[in-house]
Amino acid sequence: MSQTNSIKHIASPLASQTLLDGDLVRPVAGVRPIRLLPWLQVVKIGGRSIMDRGAEAILPVVAELRKILPEHRLLILTGAGIRARHLYGVGLDLGLPVGSLAPLAASEAGQNGHILASLLAPEGVSYVEHPTIANQLAIHLSAARAVVGSAFPPYHHHEFPHSRLPTHRADTGAFLLADALGAAGLTIVEDVDGIYDRDPNGADGAGATLLNEVDCADLAQAEGPLPVDRAMVEVMANARNLERVQVVNGLVPGRLTAALRGEHVGTIIRSGAKPL
Ligand SMILES: Nc1ncnc2c1ncn2[C@@H]1O[C@H](COP(=O)(O)OP(=O)(O)OP(=O)(O)O)[C@@H](O)[C@H]1O
Ligand SMILES: [Mg+2]
Repeated sequence: MSQTNSIKHIASPLASQTLLDGDLVRPVAGVRPIRLLPWLQVVKIGGRSIMDRGAEAILPVVAELRKILPEHRLLILTGAGIRARHLYGVGLDLGLPVGSLAPLAASEAGQNGHILASLLAPEGVSYVEHPTIANQLAIHLSAARAVVGSAFPPYHHHEFPHSRLPTHRADTGAFLLADALGAAGLTIVEDVDGIYDRDPNGADGAGATLLNEVDCADLAQAEGPLPVDRAMVEVMANARNLERVQVVNGLVPGRLTAALRGEHVGTIIRSGAKPL
């Protein structure tokens, strides 16, 4: 900033150009962003794979989360599960646009979050809405070891009209948050040991092979269904902080705890973020 004749001129390296000129923007915008919450561990709990199974699956996961709280500060995000699938069915039949379906599914994910938060309430854990995650996560995690939120990103009517179903669902939302916050890790909790070369519960599932580690670019090429959002796999290519995501089986006691302790107990998906 310079001052001449009491008029202030605010110099900005991006003032005199379109933001579309890569050569000019790169020197300014090409640096790695700071890590806002470098100690944060983000855990996405599957809606269909864990929450829909009820007490039998939820209580052991809650017990593990409770036990690990002294070791980690957690942002626990929940997926939507079967109620969102029902909602998609009714909404699509009525012709609702994707931007109307997205927040409805997000609120189903939020319901699962409220359930988890109720069970962890004695530990000081509560459910927080998106604006709180966006603006006051640090203060909440200074007061409590963990908070719970809906894993869906708040796209609402901004959801991309790629398909009639929201493309940015719970896994994408969890990854976007974890990467933007510069979190230490993201663990995705499913009902399978990780990502296989085909659906292990599908018609030809008997011969499915577990992938120990896979690059997001290779996973994006894989045909057939995945237990994580395709949009997350695509977003991972441009990750800035988070170098990997681990997909683990929440039905096997100890797997989530081991993953949070840095052990390789599921499928690791490597992102495009470069190590420092
Ligand atoms: N390539 C694959 N590897 C592993 N599991 C797969 C694969 N393809 C499909 N699946 C299936 O995905 C299931 C998990 O479903 P899904 O990911 O929809 O659940 P979820 O993550 O709990 O749901 P939500 O997104 O609502 O939180 C597994 O039980 C498995 O049968
Ligand atoms: Mg899943």
